[in-house]
Order: sequence, then structure tokens, then C-alpha cells
Amino acid sequence: MKKIIKALAVFSIVSLVNPVFAIEVDQKALQGAALYKQYCAGCHEVAASNAPTRASLGQMSATTILQQLAIGKMKVQAQALDQEQKALVAEFLAGEAGDQVDWITPAMCDSGKEVEIGDIATSGWGLRGVKNHRFIPGSVAGMSKENVGKLKLKWAFAYPGQTQVRSQPVVAGDTIFTGSKSGNLFALDRHSGCIRWHYKAVASVRTGLVLGQAEEGGEFLLFFGDITGAASAVRARDGVLVWRKSFALFQTSIITGTPALHNGRLYVPVSSYEVMVAADP
Ligand code: HEC
Repeated sequence: MKKIIKALAVFSIVSLVNPVFAIEVDQKALQGAALYKQYCAGCHEVAASNAPTRASLGQMSATTILQQLAIGKMKVQAQALDQEQKALVAEFLAGEAGDQVDWITPAMCDSGKEVEIGDIATSGWGLRGVKNHRFIPGSVAGMSKENVGKLKLKWAFAYPGQTQVRSQPVVAGDTIFTGSKSGNLFALDRHSGCIRWHYKAVASVRTGLVLGQAEEGGEFLLFFGDITGAASAVRARDGVLVWRKSFALFQTSIITGTPALHNGRLYVPVSSYEVMVAADP
């Protein structure tokens, strides 16, 4: 009898708690929907504005949307919202809360995170060297006129919660280094696509990556720019941040062009997105 009473007690707590919880969730979704209607729909539901559609925003993770509202291209459009309201809109659009990182751990390689740099196949925007040839010789790529028609997909790597991939990877030894819009940097095993290491950057990795040494015989570093106008250097061997510095000149500064490394000096082009600010309704 005691057991039944206990079971009933548990059941009644659950049945009491559940509706309250459901109402709370609905309230949040309703608030998010109302904020979206007031502050976003005016552009995002109008094809002529060139803004991503509601469906396309729904493919992004809440963290990505929040980042765009807090420090990215939408910070002017969202300036009337406080932090909590920004989170409510982001969660309403994404249909989930927080960052989607659960997929990373199961995708890690079994064989440890340390990367051996080996032969560098591509090192930056121009692919090989500073002359911007954007050409990989057949002897490096393993591709020729004869076999190019027989390419088959070996593996694919998805970026959950992202609708765009814009950071050109670099390839060295058995590793592909690649950045994501959600602000992650990955070292992937070239043969299987498993993740060797993962670095969570402060902001969306916007530029291609550059792989090189700051001085001869030094550590190999990965350089990139982000949506806040800052550039970073991360150790290629294990994904540890070495430095991050802002080069923003204005509130709307952003780094779009991939930096270039030459003779121990990093050249960082800074761009701007005033065009988005002008679209403040
Ligand atoms: C004045 C029009 C306008 C308003 C208001 C507006 N947006 Fe945008 N939004 C745009 C345009 C245009 C783009 C595409 C910008 C680009 O790609 O350069 C965009 C892009 C975005 C992106 C993707 C950014 C990227 O680089 O991937 C997100 C996320 C976003 N908006 C969310 C929102 C949310 C949430 C709101 C409301 C708080 C909002 N926007 C309000 C016009 C607007």
C-alpha cells in the first residue's frame, strides 16, 4: 500500500509539474514569436529584403542566431532588445535552447588529439604560397585527367545548426583544418573525417584559414579573422589559443578577407557592414 501511495505521489507531482512546465515553455515561445514579429519579420518575411527566410533561420542553432544579434550583422536591428529577449527570439527561431555541441564528442577520433603537421598541401587563401595561384599540382592532389572522372565520396562532415560554410580549409599531412560559422575550429582526420581536436572560438570564424609559422622553426599556427573584427592564432598541433586581437576600427568592422602570412608578418584585411546598419527600419 505504501508503495502505491508513493507511486501516486510521484505520479501526482509529475502531473502537477508537467502542465506548469508546458505553460512556461509555451510562454517563452509566445514571447519569442511576438518579438520576432515586431523586430524581425518586417525584413525576414519579405523576399525583396534579401534577408534569410524564416525557414532558413530555423535551420540555424540558437547560439548562431544569438551571436548575430549580440555581436554580428544583426546587432543594430536587435539593439532595442535586452539579452534575455535576444535569447527568446533565438530560441523561438531555432526551436531549441543553447548550443548544439552534443554531436562533437561522439565524432572525435579514437586515436588521440595531437596532430602531426607533415607535408603542407595548402596553407591559405592562394592555396600554396603567397602568389594566389589557387592551384594544387596533380602530384600533391593525387588527381589527374585520367582519374578525375572517377571521384567517389569517401566521407562527409556536417556542421549541425549551420546553413553556410564559408571558411576555406587548409590541409597538412593527415589533417584538414576547418572553421565554422558557429565559431568552432576543427582538426579533422583526412582519411575518416573524425575530429582530432576542436577549439571553441569567441565568434563566428568568417575567413579562410592560414597555416604557418610566426618565426622559422616555431610552432605551426592557424590564423583566421572573425565577425567581430578580431584575428586569432591557434596552435595547429592541439587547438590551443595563442593570441586573439581586435583590429576593429568601427562598431561595424568585420573580417571577410583571409589574412596572409609573409616573412613572419600577418596581414589582416578589415571590412565593414554599414550596408546592414543602413537597413535599420
Ligand atoms: C531591416 C531588415 C532586417 C531586420 C529588421 C532584421 N534582419 Fe536579420 N537580416 C537582414 C538581412 C538583409 C540579412 C542578410 C545579411 C547578409 O547576408 O549580409 C539578415 C541576416 C540575418 C541572419 C543571418 C546572418 C548571417 O550572417 O548568417 C540572422 C540570424 C538574422 N538576420 C536574424 C535576425 C533577427 C533574429 C532579427 C530580429 C531581432 C532580425 N534579423 C532583424 C535584414 C534584417
